[in-house]
Amino acid sequence: MPNRMLNYIISEKNILSEKIAKYLNGKLIIPEVRIFPDGEQKILLPKIKNNSKIIVIINSYPKLDSNIIRSFLLISKLKEISQKITLIIPYMPYARQDKEFLPGEIITSKIIANLYNKLNIERILVVDIHSNLVLKFFKNIHNISAVKTLGDYCSKMKLNHPIVVSPDLFWKKHAESLADCLDSESFALNKFRDRRTGLLKILPSKVLPIKGRDVIIFDDMISTGQSMILAAKFCKKNKCGKIVAVCTHGLLVNDAEKNMRNAGISKIICTNTIYQRKDSVDISRIIIENLG
Ligand code: R5P
Repeated sequence: MPNRMLNYIISEKNILSEKIAKYLNGKLIIPEVRIFPDGEQKILLPKIKNNSKIIVIINSYPKLDSNIIRSFLLISKLKEISQKITLIIPYMPYARQDKEFLPGEIITSKIIANLYNKLNIERILVVDIHSNLVLKFFKNIHNISAVKTLGDYCSKMKLNHPIVVSPDLFWKKHAESLADCLDSESFALNKFRDRRTGLLKILPSKVLPIKGRDVIIFDDMISTGQSMILAAKFCKKNKCGKIVAVCTHGLLVNDAEKNMRNAGISKIICTNTIYQRKDSVDISRIIIENLG
């Protein structure tokens, strides 16, 4: 008798994986991971039926590198059992470097993609990847947008005549989509990052009037919070109302949250691609809808 097709969800224990497993009526497997004193990892998987449908969810942050290695280890082993593997990496790291900006720079996204491509994974799902250019380096990748989910969340907030601001031109289109969910308008600031020092500044550009209006600053990710802080300073200078920071990936490195609050940002809204906090905007539903 053929094996019954079964969904196994292999992930660390968190709300996102539990929700996905529950929805799919799948078996959630938390691999046994042992870390040696030098940092090397040893992984033990329980018995999995041959040819099962397998979903691997990798929470890449923090410890980006060891989580990427973990995904390689897991997928390589699971390929001995089944070819029907979907890899979900809600936050795809190394997606910033999509080209050689300065001579000699390594296009990290391409190299990471090549390594994943060698594993011949049936499907890879990511959420709001930093650069769409990176998608072309991967085989079988699908990028899901959390903008509508965030837009629905923001539309329920009590905001005064809100306007959406993108800290840079890069995220302009997404800011427009978020503004559409609110029947509002948007504009993008012209952020400049010195490629050698990493220093940020906002260059002059044409912007809409924001005096007295609540502002949603929207970006794909918040890392140190500096982009949000710069944009908030700009909005305050232009006498806006309340400032809310919204992003898909809230990495919130070190004191990012504290610094953003000190800069006058009253609320920080992120999805649960990184942290599974009570107030995170849940993206399990859009992941499930895109599982195919
Ligand atoms: C850059 O292009 C990204 O879209 C984000 O604006 C950036 O990575 C955020 O980083 P930080 O919070 O450190 O300014």
